[in-house]
Amino acid sequence: TDRLHLAIIAGDGIGPEVIGQAVRVLEAVLPSGVDYTSTEYPFGAGHYLATGEVLSDESLAALKQHDAILLGAVGGDPADPRLAGGIVERGLLLKLRFALDHYVNLRPAEIVPGVASPLAQPGDVDFVVVREGTEGPYAGNGGVLRDGTPHAIATEVSVNTEYGVERVVRFAFELAQRRPRKKLTLVHKKNVLVFAGFMWQRVVDRIAAEYPDVVVDYLHVDAATIFMVTDPSRFDVIVTDNLFGDIITDLAAAIAGGIGLAASGNINPAGEFPSMFEPVHGSAPDIAGQGKADPTAAIGSVALLLEQSGHRDAADRVRAAVRADLDARGDVARSTSEIGDAIIARLST
Ligand code: NAD
Ligand code: IPM
Ligand code: MN
Repeated sequence: TDRLHLAIIAGDGIGPEVIGQAVRVLEAVLPSGVDYTSTEYPFGAGHYLATGEVLSDESLAALKQHDAILLGAVGGDPADPRLAGGIVERGLLLKLRFALDHYVNLRPAEIVPGVASPLAQPGDVDFVVVREGTEGPYAGNGGVLRDGTPHAIATEVSVNTEYGVERVVRFAFELAQRRPRKKLTLVHKKNVLVFAGFMWQRVVDRIAAEYPDVVVDYLHVDAATIFMVTDPSRFDVIVTDNLFGDIITDLAAAIAGGIGLAASGNINPAGEFPSMFEPVHGSAPDIAGQGKADPTAAIGSVALLLEQSGHRDAADRVRAAVRADLDARGDVARSTSEIGDAIIARLST
């Protein structure tokens, strides 16, 4: 709690733009007694193209020495053949989530006053997606046979371990128990993905017995996307696999005011490795370098970082300032730094 040696990976595209504002907010609220250092690391598509390094073993070892990581976004020009195959997405972002055992990918979605949801009658939307972060179809378990021929076969086999499913489901139950609605929804596709789906449901059923006050629900992922649009207030805590969680959290962001507001934390709950906080969005090449990116998602990720680092009051101050700014925002277009300035101006002392 009294030490925060932060690693900053601003990344590509709008990453450095939003992280600049997020770091300003962090440094404005951090209690003065904290032993704070920040170290910037250049990793991302740009660094890879310039140096050939995606993430070396030495760099990974250096990152492990930090208490937390703040990341902007990584990913370059999608048309650049040198970046094909998700070289930085897999080799940097997913590598960090896996190597630092970020098995909880926490992605809150809340409609707060002043935010224009595209839904006409959204209701009281306040839910958290607990996305599994180290397994599933992201595990890299696949390959191509007869590559480049008309008979090529590509597989991408989802990996689900009892250990991996149990620990993320347990985290989700703990979270649900602390929230007023005390509801947990498993989102999967157990009518088709029967082996993994059965495992997830069995684990949920087993752990549910330890949390009798948590109401348990199940939705197939396709139906979950319906309800996220037609009745999103039915959700409290959603627990789901890595790929379903990726998809439904972009949808969750969209209904809760847009991808520019959606914060996330890649958490290693036991603190064995540094947790990593990042906006849900990517490097947004379409708006990069124009000062148009909304830094609110990155700033909200700082609030999650502070909370996870034991600085609850500082986290609350950031959240309150973000809410006040959202409530006053209206539809006047503002630049990245203007939004940062406005949020900093609203920080309570
Ligand atoms: P994206 O999230 O970068 O962009 C999708 C849309 O949302 C774009 O129109 C973009 O302009 C808009 N947008 C995103 N963030 C915004 C913000 N803060 N303010 C305003 N508008 C915002 O998704 P994409 O286009 O699918 O991906 C672009 C690149 O980013 C790809 O290389 C992808 O692999 C990578 N990516 C990285 C991360 C990450 O580092 N965590 C996450 C997602 C995508
Ligand atoms: C996200 C991103 C990443 C993911 C990509 C860039 C690997 O979309 O953080 O949501 O799929 O997890
Ligand atoms: Mn995503």
